[in-house]
Amino acid sequence: VVSFELVLAALTAVAVTVWYAWVAQDGLPPPGSFIGHGLGIAGLALMLAAETLYTIRKRAPNFHLWSLQTWLQLHIVCGIVGPYLVLLHTAGKFGGLAGVVALLTGVIVISGFIGRYLYTATPRSFDGTALDAPEVESEIAAANRQLRELAPRLGESARLLAPAPLPRDWVAVLARPWLRLQNRLRLGHALHELRATDAAAAAEVKRLLGRRYRLELQGRSLAAARRLMSLWHAWHVPLGVMLFSLAFIHVFAALYYATLLK
Ligand code: HEM
Ligand code: HEM
Repeated sequence: VVSFELVLAALTAVAVTVWYAWVAQDGLPPPGSFIGHGLGIAGLALMLAAETLYTIRKRAPNFHLWSLQTWLQLHIVCGIVGPYLVLLHTAGKFGGLAGVVALLTGVIVISGFIGRYLYTATPRSFDGTALDAPEVESEIAAANRQLRELAPRLGESARLLAPAPLPRDWVAVLARPWLRLQNRLRLGHALHELRATDAAAAAEVKRLLGRRYRLELQGRSLAAARRLMSLWHAWHVPLGVMLFSLAFIHVFAALYYATLLK
């Protein structure tokens, strides 16, 4: 499933691209031009928003505007669109210190996607706080209760309610999309007959078994996902600090030498 924030970021990038194609008809606007400056400033501002807003919201639990999830979505939109504007700002030139800043920006975006993958490996409640093992167990138990209520309608297919085998913890983290796809295909195949006789029951069983499998994978990977996530934090956060320090040097140097001395 492609999530809302990635769609929003992609749509924004498309809109910006259309506008950029229009202003760049007679050649790419250079980074030091009016439009080039604008792109650099807007891009850096969005990147700074990504760097700060979510962290502030995370540490302010009494702040009630929007859920933590929503702020993370906003973080991701800013973290994609900002670097994209900065990429347009460079006009394809990557010389000197500014080139290093651009490279680090690319690295942090890729790192962000890796973090997003690990983040979704950790089970969470609706408001985005991480669940612990007993809470995951009780969610699984709830799914099992609903499945048992459906059991009388399933006939032969009731054997599907037995839990699917689970892989080792780190495999559960790293191969999650593949494992879930496999499970979906297996269920789709196994529910073939039931679908012909009771389509509503088949759809409901498929939904509940998919949900239970996701929770079971998350439960299995709980500890490994936490370890990987904290390793990731230990690299992603200093990377951001380094990136912004160099970005500010670039901005002051570029403005001083290229713009003001002209
Ligand atoms: C993270 C944010 C930014 C990155 C990654 C970045 C990157 C770059 C790159 C790669 C270049 C081309 C260097 C070359 O000529 O080979 C450049 C040029 C330039 N940038 Fe940025 N930039 C950023 C933000 C800004 C901001 C906010 C400003 C100022 C408002 C700015 C002002 C300039 C100027 C004036 C030039 C032209 C320098 C010249 O003509 O020698 N940049 N930038
Ligand atoms: C300019 C680009 C970006 C910057 C400067 C940035 C910066 C940061 C920082 C400083 C944190 C630590 C927040 C905290 O725990 O207090 C963070 C966390 C995170 N970022 Fe980014 N990020 C960027 C782009 C992205 C992108 C593109 C994605 C996803 C596609 C992403 C996904 C995440 C995730 C999932 C977390 C972990 C949230 C958590 O542990 O609570 N980031 N980012």
